[in-house]
Amino acid sequence: MQHNFEITSSSGIYSVLIGKDVFSDGLQEVLKKSSTDKAFLLIDENVENHHGDFILTSLQKHFANVEKMTVPQGEESKSVSFWSDVSGFLLQNGVRRNTPLFVAGGGVTGDLGGFAAATTLRGIPLIHIPTSVLAMVDSSIGGKTGINHTTGKNLIGAFYKPEAVIADTRFLDSLPRREWVNGLSEILKYGAIRDDSIFSDAEIFLQEDLSKTDPLALINLIEKCIRIKADIVQKDEYEGNIRAFLNYGHTFAHALEKECRFDSISHGEAVYLGMLAAGWLSIQCGGDLEENKLEKFSSLYSYKITVGQLSTDNLIHHMQADKKRIENHIRFVLLDRWQHPVLKTVKDRELIKQAWSIVLGELHKNKRSSD
Ligand code: GLY
Repeated sequence: MQHNFEITSSSGIYSVLIGKDVFSDGLQEVLKKSSTDKAFLLIDENVENHHGDFILTSLQKHFANVEKMTVPQGEESKSVSFWSDVSGFLLQNGVRRNTPLFVAGGGVTGDLGGFAAATTLRGIPLIHIPTSVLAMVDSSIGGKTGINHTTGKNLIGAFYKPEAVIADTRFLDSLPRREWVNGLSEILKYGAIRDDSIFSDAEIFLQEDLSKTDPLALINLIEKCIRIKADIVQKDEYEGNIRAFLNYGHTFAHALEKECRFDSISHGEAVYLGMLAAGWLSIQCGGDLEENKLEKFSSLYSYKITVGQLSTDNLIHHMQADKKRIENHIRFVLLDRWQHPVLKTVKDRELIKQAWSIVLGELHKNKRSSD
């Protein structure tokens, strides 16, 4: 049950291995390229608690010396100061240009570790070991790395090709339910922009115990998403055009995350809400989206924030500050039809305000009763 394929980038080809219990095979792949007996491991603290021994001992079978650093949970780890700590850890422990850095975790650890790999000694070999659904289907693929700045998310970063991505679904077994749902949003995004069959495949998320999901159905779904992303980033690595479609729902989502200080809402929750708003806006802009294909997943999401905490004016202000803006107008990924994304600049502020009311309505409907 393993699938291996390659992604071509401007700085070379890298392989993606996806399946259950594929970690050892993935290491063999990396070893083909490695000529050192030393390796570094950057690992998310939660992943370390569940899988740290397994990952470390697997690496130690191949590398005589493995130096490990743990990354605390949460978006705060994607800070300039923590990136500096990671760089210090690598430099003070004898990193060389050929010493590989294995990065095991979700989107935060992957982005941070990727940026540390890209910048230390102007680039050391990077191997992503995504351990969340979101990291497997999105953030570990396509070479984006980065950290946050006090003025916004992902404002400092680099495109940097990994040597390999090893997506072993064994790591998902310990994932809390909220993390599965976090990844679901990016999966649904691929359904919206590219492949309608994903909406029915993703129904596996509607079952009660997600750790009991049919492994093959899950692997096939994750692979379908990775292949879509691979196809897009191979055609537009540096986001000159179609890569922007991967940001469907994200203009709303990033503004919401910023307004919530990246704390009380997860990226996936924000993206789901953002896609609802983008779908509504698409229809207002002439899109033909008769059926709301996202609705059946609505009950999976529950939100900590209350509507009263949010100011639409602030949210629109954050959208205007988005790094992808063109002049002062806000540019959205919208849908002409399902699976037909387009980039549109919307100048009508009232319309954008109304789109936010879709988000506020959903937040109200699915307010989390307790934590
Ligand atoms: N997550 C969007 C991208 O990689 O372009």
